[in-house]
Amino acid sequence: MEKIALGVCSSISIYKAGEIIRLFQEEGYAVRVIMTEKATQFINPYLFDSLTGEKTIISLFDERQRPIEHISLAGEISLLLVAPATANMIGKLASGVADDFLSTFYLAVKCPVLIAPAMNEAMYLHPQTQENIRRLKKLGVEFVEPESGYLACGQKGIGRLASPEKIVQKSLRLIRRREIFQDKIVLITAGPTREFLDPVRFLSNPSSGKMGYELAREAYELGAEVILVSGPVELEPPPEVYIEKVVTAEEMRKAVLKHYERADVVIMAAAVADFKFREHLPAKIKKDSLSESLAIENTPDILQELGKLKSRQLLVGFAAETTEILERAEKKLKQKNLDLMIANDVSVPDSGFGSGYNEILLLWPDGRSRKIPRATKRKISQEIFSEIEVLLHERPRN
Ligand code: C5P
Repeated sequence: MEKIALGVCSSISIYKAGEIIRLFQEEGYAVRVIMTEKATQFINPYLFDSLTGEKTIISLFDERQRPIEHISLAGEISLLLVAPATANMIGKLASGVADDFLSTFYLAVKCPVLIAPAMNEAMYLHPQTQENIRRLKKLGVEFVEPESGYLACGQKGIGRLASPEKIVQKSLRLIRRREIFQDKIVLITAGPTREFLDPVRFLSNPSSGKMGYELAREAYELGAEVILVSGPVELEPPPEVYIEKVVTAEEMRKAVLKHYERADVVIMAAAVADFKFREHLPAKIKKDSLSESLAIENTPDILQELGKLKSRQLLVGFAAETTEILERAEKKLKQKNLDLMIANDVSVPDSGFGSGYNEILLLWPDGRSRKIPRATKRKISQEIFSEIEVLLHERPRN
């Protein structure tokens, strides 16, 4: 099992470290916690012992550890994450001071290092702290920026520890990144579109955007530059992903076309509404005055247009079907000039639309197909990207 070392410093946000551990464990990683002496004033190390099943490390001279533990552990881990990191610890790491286990360990590791600062705004923005951060960045250390909001000191400002989800996603990007995705731009669409009749009524569908957002997360973790064009959904995008929020199919089309030229991989996971009202009325129409204004017409088929314009892009589409799944998906694969089609049966209960799960059938233009049984959308997007990786390797480099 891959292992992560989690350095924990003395910040009020230390309570979020438990959640970080849990998220890593859910992803299949073991976590070894290193606390600073002062951090033990906030939380008893026994909490982390219990969460990780391993003895928390505090001191260089602890008889509970192996001799020269900092060197042995350094060879076993895939990532050193310091979260929360105090101004003091950032200062020590930036200047090579090694006067406790964590700062000594930092000098012994060869794996990527990620720091998530947490402190009062004045301390964070102090030129000394900013200089220390710059120095560490220059040495290849990565950072998860703190967030703005209410701080423990009662003030509002920047300095709050980033969310555990963001910290873990950025960590996974450093551990899981793959050579082939390093220089790739992946453009993904997600969620539904809304086609308005008047300011308060629209045509849409129950898409939650989960599939597209999970795909964006996977592309991000594999090291790609990600552009996410999203319809209206209630989801947090992964960190460092460029997001364009759109509402209608026409807005989605414009946003996708704007980035299409630069993209290496394009995945149309959005459930674009197929119909729109012929007229979009500026004022709310009265219930009793329904008229020919309800006439509907087709929205632009974005994917079909992308298929026609395709040069070097790898084009992936979805087909949400309820009947004749294989036949319809095969037809759309050809019609839209795709490199990979992902068909799903949206009539299966708790699968597809709105669900956290999906069951898909992958289809290639050469007639090959592969079924992926019901799994979480996270797992499904990992499978999809392992197939995209194969396709990218097969392509001649340009
Ligand atoms: O033809 P159908 O709507 O089933 O095709 C589904 C695929 O086409 C999806 O990848 C979807 O994102 C895309 N699509 C589109 N523009 C539309 C309708 C669907 O790009 N107007």
